[in-house]
Amino acid sequence: MKITAFNGSPKGKNGNTFIMVDEFLKGAISVGAEAEQVLLSEKKIHHCIGCLACWTKTPGKCIFEDDMRELLPKFDTDFIVFACPVYVDNVTGLMKNFMDRMIPIADPHFTTDERGESRHVMPPNYKFPKLVIISNCGFPEQSHFEVFKVLFKRVARNMHTEVAAEIYRGEGELMKMKSLLLKPFQYKYKKLLQRCGKEVMTDGRLSDETIEKLEKPIVPPDQYSKHANKHWDRELAKLK
Ligand SMILES: Cc1cc2nc3c(=O)[nH]c(=O)nc-3n(C[C@H](O)[C@H](O)[C@H](O)COP(=O)(O)O)c2cc1C
Repeated sequence: MKITAFNGSPKGKNGNTFIMVDEFLKGAISVGAEAEQVLLSEKKIHHCIGCLACWTKTPGKCIFEDDMRELLPKFDTDFIVFACPVYVDNVTGLMKNFMDRMIPIADPHFTTDERGESRHVMPPNYKFPKLVIISNCGFPEQSHFEVFKVLFKRVARNMHTEVAAEIYRGEGELMKMKSLLLKPFQYKYKKLLQRCGKEVMTDGRLSDETIEKLEKPIVPPDQYSKHANKHWDRELAKLK
């Protein structure tokens, strides 16, 4: 099995998303998968300008000669991970630019899915990989991922594939916080992410037990919010 993760956090290696993907891929590798994490923050990706030259003039090829030329071939894999923090209830601009630039993969002709809804045709013999979604956000509740859930279900439909697994975690700032008290909680959550990587590679999905565990907060949400507010008090006091 092969899995490629695209990380859309502007913070790259210093982000909470990086830690989540890293642990997930460790689990995947432990059962023999070939895995890679691509940091979109380190890539040059011009935003799509809607010229559709990739359909009408140079089929399959964008006019921009940037890093997407090396990234699109990486879709030749069993699974891709869209890994991205929540920014204003949505994906980051970096991730959206990346997703818009996937359009050269499709054939412009219209077709309908099994429910009669339109989408573009996929080229013959092209199989879009299954999706894994990994995200975290600053607030503690899991409700902040509602847009992600709908968005990636739609993206999967568009690309003639399916969402194999979704891993969402509020309280994301806990991921890289340095505190002795937090260590056992972080360790437990990292182990859970590794288990997710193993399960997706071996079963193609997450078990019900794992899904249930993923929904449990790392620490009680009220304590997390209390600490967050203390943190912001300290930061803002520095301005005085
Ligand atoms: C511009 C911006 C917008 C954000 N919007 C949200 C939001 O809508 N909801 C939320 O819970 N967290 C929000 N956050 C917090 C991030 O999701 C959080 O810090 C996350 O851990 C960042 O992940 P990263 O370290 O991988 O970049 C936002 C952060 C930034 C910088």
